[in-house]
Amino acid sequence: MKRSLAVLLGSILALAMILTGCGKSDTAASEGSDSSDGGKLEIFSWWTAGGEADGLNALIDVFNKKQPDIEVKNEAVAGGAGSNAKAVLATRMQGGNPPSTFQVHGGAELMAYVDAGKMEPLNDLFKKNGWDGKFPEDLIDMVSKDGKIYGIPVDIHRGNVLWYNKKVFDDNNLQPPKTFDEFFDVADKLKAKGITPLAIGDKEVWGSTMVFENILLAELGPDKYKQLWTGEVTFDDPAVKKSAEIFKKMIGYINDDHSSLAWQDASQLVADGKAAMNIMGDWAKGYFTSKNLKYNEDFGAVPTPESDGSFMVVADTFGKPKGVKNPDQVDKFLTVLGSVDGQDAFNPKKGSIPANVDGDTSKYDDYSKQAMDDFKTDSLTPSLAHGSAAPQGFMTKVDEAVNVFVTQKNVDNFIQSLTQASSLLK
Ligand code: BGC
Repeated sequence: MKRSLAVLLGSILALAMILTGCGKSDTAASEGSDSSDGGKLEIFSWWTAGGEADGLNALIDVFNKKQPDIEVKNEAVAGGAGSNAKAVLATRMQGGNPPSTFQVHGGAELMAYVDAGKMEPLNDLFKKNGWDGKFPEDLIDMVSKDGKIYGIPVDIHRGNVLWYNKKVFDDNNLQPPKTFDEFFDVADKLKAKGITPLAIGDKEVWGSTMVFENILLAELGPDKYKQLWTGEVTFDDPAVKKSAEIFKKMIGYINDDHSSLAWQDASQLVADGKAAMNIMGDWAKGYFTSKNLKYNEDFGAVPTPESDGSFMVVADTFGKPKGVKNPDQVDKFLTVLGSVDGQDAFNPKKGSIPANVDGDTSKYDDYSKQAMDDFKTDSLTPSLAHGSAAPQGFMTKVDEAVNVFVTQKNVDNFIQSLTQASSLLK
């Protein structure tokens, strides 16, 4: 079993303990908590790669300028998409030792902690900052339960993006593919030239799960894609089977070393022209620009094939755990995190667009300007690979199934595993 799967299983166990109340009670948590670490504000995330780490540092800089007396402790745990951090967090939450504030995706991932009674509502902070109407309603829905808001959104990523090396495409007279037929046509031409068509880094399985969820979105369309997570569409649907067939064909065009690479390594293959394309959220743009590559000169981006008009939302939010010793410091940090200043320092480096609607567009490149427009008009869909669409238990089973599929390429077994896993959907 891959390490990330083992870690995720650990995190499920910890989460299950929280949900069944086997961990310390909230009261015990608040009494026993040492979350302030001697007065330091612990910011827990998994932002350690190029781009994402730069964004976090820029945000912390803004905070330090506004609150010079509060000492910040950057508690980032490496591993894309939180493949390690989520397990560490679950253990800390279960042990009554929450960080002061932590990165969490809106949707199912945040709601697991809310349902377990581990999070403070943030409505008062929202009011105090005049944030009513300042964040898109769809995002507020993803962080709310029964009228209470539990997370402050810091960014909006698009998860259905195909990145390509411009020089490789230009040198070979290729156009970025809009359909799967075009994708395989381009891929054949690249392969004939000895260039890896598609870079994947699935050392942490989500790198492949993301590719599959993008194909699902394309084949099912946004409405049916969303119905997969509610059980209204089942995994034996012909469109799911077709997605698996397309995924299988794609796997024939990826780098041999995919299972030893992380997402940023796969992006680097594209940056170096060793591979032509990469399917990844737009934190990859943050990575490319951190390496001094320029959008539309060195690399280009289009929606993944047949997903134009849909926007796979990956939104990071930060919340306030119950029982922290420094709630006022947390409020001050969340105030900066939700502010235009904070978001406009963070997002241009991160690759994402600001969640606060007052973000200053002039601070963003053409890619992000386009993403801002698309977010307003496209159908918005939650990402499975990034924890918004479905509970962690289901996600882990899907990751396991994807992991097996990438090696065995057995469509029927894959559909069967997905169908079995669907009993874990609420
Ligand atoms: C997060 C991004 C992060 C990416 C890679 C996603 O789950 O939402 O903020 O950059 O993982 O680590």
